[in-house]
Amino acid sequence: MRIKPSRNFLVGLCILLSLGWLYYWSWRISSGRWGHNALYDNQGFLLKLDGSLPLELMHKYGNLSKGACKPGFAAAKMTAIYPKFTKPAPMFLDPNYKRFSKINRYLPPFGVRLQEKLIDILLAATQSYGLGEKLDSMKCKRCIIIGNGGILADKSLGQKIDEFDVVVRLNNAPVKGYEKDVGSKTTMRITYPEGAIQKMEDYESESLFVLSAFKALDFKWLAHMVFNQKLRSSEGFWKSVAMYVPRDHSSMRILNPYFIQEASFKLIGLPFNNGQMGRGNIPTLGTVAITMALHNCDEVAVAGFGYDMNTPDALLHYYEKLRMSAIKESWTHNISKEKEFLLKLVKAGVIQDWTHGICGAGC
Ligand SMILES: *[C@@H]1O[C@H](CO)[C@@H](O)[C@H](O)[C@H]1NC(C)=O
Ligand SMILES: *[C@@H]1O[C@H](CO)[C@@H](O)[C@H](O)[C@H]1NC(C)=O
Repeated sequence: MRIKPSRNFLVGLCILLSLGWLYYWSWRISSGRWGHNALYDNQGFLLKLDGSLPLELMHKYGNLSKGACKPGFAAAKMTAIYPKFTKPAPMFLDPNYKRFSKINRYLPPFGVRLQEKLIDILLAATQSYGLGEKLDSMKCKRCIIIGNGGILADKSLGQKIDEFDVVVRLNNAPVKGYEKDVGSKTTMRITYPEGAIQKMEDYESESLFVLSAFKALDFKWLAHMVFNQKLRSSEGFWKSVAMYVPRDHSSMRILNPYFIQEASFKLIGLPFNNGQMGRGNIPTLGTVAITMALHNCDEVAVAGFGYDMNTPDALLHYYEKLRMSAIKESWTHNISKEKEFLLKLVKAGVIQDWTHGICGAGC
C-alpha cells in the first residue's frame, strides 16, 4: 500500500520551506555578510585604506594646531578602519586583572590560566602597576616603539625619538653607544627571559622592566628576578637567560597578555589552535608592543621595523653585524602575515613609521 502525501502535509512543507528561506536571509542581512564582504577583509579591516580622516575625526582634530598631540587619535583611527576595536585594555597586570575575562581562559602566552597564584604573589611584591604618576596623568601621550631593525642605523633619529613621552624598547637592544640613531630615553623595556639584557652594565638606570610572558616558566623566572634569587640554570628556556636583573621590584611590570591574544587571533589572524601555542601563531614582540600602544597611547609611532628580505646584505639589527640572510624560517612567527597587518596600520595612518621599513616601496 502506498501512502499518498496528504494535502495538509504539502501545505505544511511549503510553509516550513518559506519560513526557512526568510530566516536564512534575515540572518545573512543582519549578520551583515551581504555587502560587508565588499568593504572589509577577513580580519575585519576596511579594505580601502588611506591616510584621510573620517568626517567626525576631521571635526575633532582638524582645528588642533599643527604638531599638537591629538587625544585619543590612535584608537579613533583604529576604530575607523577596524570597527571591532575596543580601547579598554590596561598595559600591565594589576591586582584586579581577573576582572579582565578575556585572559582567564587561556594558558600563556595568550592568557594567565594556571598562573594566577604566582601572579598574585608577584603583583603583591611589585606594588606598582602603571607608568608612574607623571605619565599616567598626562592628557595626551605620544609613544614610540623602537624595533631592533638595521634600518635604524645611520638615520640620526635619536633626538626625535627622545621627544616622545613614552619610548618603548624591546629585549636587549642597546642604547649606549647608539644614542645618535636610537635616542637615550627608555620609558620601558619589554622582554621575555631569553631576550633580557645579560650584561648588568647595559641596563639603563631608570626604566620599567616589563615581562612579556610566552610560557608558564617565564612567570617563575620573573619571580626569581623580583625576589632577587639568583637563577641557577637556563633549563627549560630555549636559550640562555639573564640570571639577575638589576632592578627594584617596584619598577617591574607584567605586560597584559591580552595584547598577544588580540594581535595573534584578531588583528593578524594567525591560527587559533584551540587557544594554545602552535605553529606560526605567536606574534613577534614588536607587534605585541604596537598592539599595547594602540590601546594606551594617544599617538603611536614606530621606528626600526620591517625586514628587507630582498637585500640579503642589509643589517638585520642596528647593533650587530648579522645580515638579513641570517634570518631563519621561524616556527613560531609568521612574519609575512604580521607584515600585512602592520602595513594596514601604516597605510591608514594609525601609526607613523619613521624609518619606512614596513611599507618598503609599497606606500
Ligand atoms: C574650527 O575652526 C573654524 C574656524 O576657526 C570654526 O569655524 C570651526 O567651528 C572650528 N571647529 C571646531 C570643531 O572647533
Ligand atoms: C603564514 O601564513 C600563511 C597564510 O596563512 C601560510 O600559508 C603559511 O604557511 C604561514 N607560515 C607559517 C610559518 O606558519
